[in-house]
Amino acid sequence: MKTTFSIIKADVGGTPGHSTVDQRLMDVANEKLKEAKESGLIKDFFVTHCGDDLELIMTHDKGEDNEEIHALAWDVFTAATEVAKELGFYGAGQDLLKDAFSGNIRGMGPGIAEMEFTERKSEPVVAFLMDKTEPGAFNLPIYRIFADPFNTAGLVIDPNLHHGFVFEVWDIKEHKKVLMETPEEMYDLLALIGAKSRFVIKRVFPKEGGKLPANEPVAVVSTEKLFQIAGEYIGKDDPVAAVRAQSGLPALGEVLEPFAFPHLVSGWMRGSHNGPIMPVGIKDAKCTRFDGPPRVVAIGFQVKNGMLTGHADLFDDPAFDYTRRRAMEIADYMRRHGPFEPHRLPMEDMEYTTLPKVMDKLKERFEEV
Ligand code: F6R
Ligand code: MG
Ligand code: MG
Repeated sequence: MKTTFSIIKADVGGTPGHSTVDQRLMDVANEKLKEAKESGLIKDFFVTHCGDDLELIMTHDKGEDNEEIHALAWDVFTAATEVAKELGFYGAGQDLLKDAFSGNIRGMGPGIAEMEFTERKSEPVVAFLMDKTEPGAFNLPIYRIFADPFNTAGLVIDPNLHHGFVFEVWDIKEHKKVLMETPEEMYDLLALIGAKSRFVIKRVFPKEGGKLPANEPVAVVSTEKLFQIAGEYIGKDDPVAAVRAQSGLPALGEVLEPFAFPHLVSGWMRGSHNGPIMPVGIKDAKCTRFDGPPRVVAIGFQVKNGMLTGHADLFDDPAFDYTRRRAMEIADYMRRHGPFEPHRLPMEDMEYTTLPKVMDKLKERFEEV
């Protein structure tokens, strides 16, 4: 029997502004998912938030893209939206782009990261939840976890990791995907995923002939780009990811290690600025300064027979204090650029915001040079 680990998230209203999720919305989610667990639809669940995003973490045996599971998540989000509307929370229902559920939550606004796998004797899985950034923010850490020997000692030391991994990369503008192998194709892979607003790592697989089945993912990232769904800048595509760890895979500490470097990501303030991503515990997962800086939470689970038997809030740890301090130094440095690139996103990425309107207004006044 295989287990499916699903993270489905949406911003259904912030309190105050776009900063955080009110406990009452999480209470709605907890109640609904408790009922679903009692009815046998899901095996287990964990509700949390990162910034203004409500995060549903669920385990079940229904596989990826299951209609009942997606309908359940949609139901939770619409119920939470009702409460958010009553209480006047900010942007209530902002990520629910469609009026009614139509079989699959993909393309309807929420972000989804799901993977189905055969449980090992002991199965550690980390849920990474980001706010105020975009799916490409996961490219650097996922690459480093599975392909960088300076990050993951196991790539050098453990014979089970030595032959590398397969990366599924999506071109989110052309809606195409390609499978690439590391270490053989690492330069080509980096050529693509360094362009993180276009090419995003969707999944990572073990290679054939290893300890784990080659057709079962060991990592998955949500890749929903809301402006492409809605055709204009609307909602936010703050991403989530799930990564399996240990025994033939990168160790838990190797999975967390890339986040000790607060790399620059896009999506801060109005989805239009670059800034460092700061790893935080859930208690600090609220966006404040300049609506940020972008944050990432890591909840580690042990999964046994589809149950979440133990969990820990992994960045809620002094070991990441130094990274947080560095992130704030970088945030301060970036802020000094105000409306200038590279703090503000380049033209190409601003296409979906106000820039076309400014250009339109000035178009008559431009002269030949
Ligand atoms: C939302 C976000 C925020 C908003 C900003 C303006 O996740 O990134 O930075 O873009 O607060 O929001 P509005 O236009 O709703 O006032
Ligand atoms: Mg919001
Ligand atoms: Mg958000």
